[in-house]
Amino acid sequence: KRLILVGPPGSGKGTQSPIIKDEYCLCHLATGDMLRAAVAAKTPLGIKAKEAMEKGELVSDDLVVGIIDEAMKKPSCQKGFILDGFPRTVVQAEKLDQMLEKQGIKVDKVLNFAIDDSILEERITGRWIHPSSGRSYHTKFAPPKVPGVDDVTGEPLIQRKDDTAAVLKSRLEAFHKQTEPVIDYYTKKGIVANLHAEKPPKDVTAEVEKVLSS
Ligand code: AP5
Ligand code: ZN
Repeated sequence: KRLILVGPPGSGKGTQSPIIKDEYCLCHLATGDMLRAAVAAKTPLGIKAKEAMEKGELVSDDLVVGIIDEAMKKPSCQKGFILDGFPRTVVQAEKLDQMLEKQGIKVDKVLNFAIDDSILEERITGRWIHPSSGRSYHTKFAPPKVPGVDDVTGEPLIQRKDDTAAVLKSRLEAFHKQTEPVIDYYTKKGIVANLHAEKPPKDVTAEVEKVLSS
């Protein structure tokens, strides 16, 4: 399957992605994870992206379209993919369509993680991540077995620099202004499935499975 996950910060995209990936053997491309890795490694891409990310603003369309274009060439992405956090502007959505058109393929479904803004601050400020895998935990909703330690590798967990209440405000503003039009773009194509992203993780997984098996 070829899937797009869209939703505000903290809506659960990164939490559901690995489950979908394992079940449907897809390639998982998360532009946020790729950008954070580039920032940590201080690559030219990371240096260009850092400032916008720390302010909670979007990185330029050209930069992210470039990384997706490159990453989609991987053999594991030929049969299907999950795009998490891309496209986030209508320009990015149009670029993606052009990219796929060249290969004669189309997006199958857009999973819209619909959720009220008021729930997101608690999710964002309680999140801890394992940077190299992108796995996320939550002090209250999904605690690791040992506090501050990744369940799988035993490596330390960190908090994202943009996971503060203040930066969340900018990220939400960017979502409403720039990303909600992307949902309208795909709604017109008739491929959006709306999820109840405020429910517990297991319930959201069940909704995702229902959509993907239909
Ligand atoms: P990105 O990394 O994509 O961040 P985001 O969209 O803000 O989304 P998050 O990762 O914060 O949320 P999520 O939905 O994955 O939540 P999660 O599952 O972890 O982007 C970061 C930045 O990179 C952007 O601001 C921008 O600068 C740049 N960028 C990236 N892509 C770009 C693009 N295409 N164009 C331009 N710029 C781009 O869950 C959150 C927490 O809640 C976790 O602790 C989790 O355990 C918990 N949780 C999850 N689900 C539930 C549930 N159902 N119930 C209770 N708790 C839950
Ligand atoms: Zn995420």
